[in-house]
Amino acid sequence: MERIDKILARQGIASRREVKELIKQGRVTAEGAVVTDCAFKIDEDNCAVTVDGKTVAVKKYIYIMMNKPKGVVSASAGEDKTVVDLVPAELFRKGLFPAGRLDKDTTGFVLITDDGDFAHKILSPKNHVYKTYLARLQRPVPENEMKKLENGITLLDGTSLKGAKVETVEEGEQPLVKIMICEGKYHQVKRMFAAAGSRVLELHRQKIGGLSLDAGLSAGECREITPEELKKITGPVFSDFDNKN
Ligand code: URA
Repeated sequence: MERIDKILARQGIASRREVKELIKQGRVTAEGAVVTDCAFKIDEDNCAVTVDGKTVAVKKYIYIMMNKPKGVVSASAGEDKTVVDLVPAELFRKGLFPAGRLDKDTTGFVLITDDGDFAHKILSPKNHVYKTYLARLQRPVPENEMKKLENGITLLDGTSLKGAKVETVEEGEQPLVKIMICEGKYHQVKRMFAAAGSRVLELHRQKIGGLSLDAGLSAGECREITPEELKKITGPVFSDFDNKN
């Protein structure tokens, strides 16, 4: 249970001061009854709230799937345009940040949330939430080098990287390779393929855990993640590989 003014301000509909005004003016209801006391407490996960007759989706945290375009940084603030800057007003609320970073030139699935515990859960390598990337390579990587990436490697600067799951999706002079990693070290995928003697020309994150980027989202677009989808993120993650092997 938490104060209604605090909860409403967190939903991003208005500032705390403005929310207090709305409440005092009798424009807010909870479970069908008008609330005029700003300190009135409601259950943030289960309470029907309206403002000016319109239902407000009250929830403690928000989880947003974005198809990150190139040229935007995975941060919540800074000089460059950030992924949080792209969140539309109806989904925006204070405290949003991207759970994990993609390079400025990487595209694809970024999860934006205000739930720090959840972010930690999906980012911590010990939880084995694999991130799936599609990498367009400058040249093919020999089979033995692919094996090394699968077994885990140590980079020349001493950075040790856990084993990845690697699969060629499209053969050719500049193959498309799918790679799954559960860590998020600096430029990790690019450095892995550099160590294997190639170069990443394009990088796209397709999946976090068991949840794929919605193909209906154009670059720069986002939408809320449903509770069912959220479960897929931390659920079984090897399904792609298990089905094949
Ligand atoms: N690995 C990289 O090299 N870059 C990214 O943006 C993500 C993973």
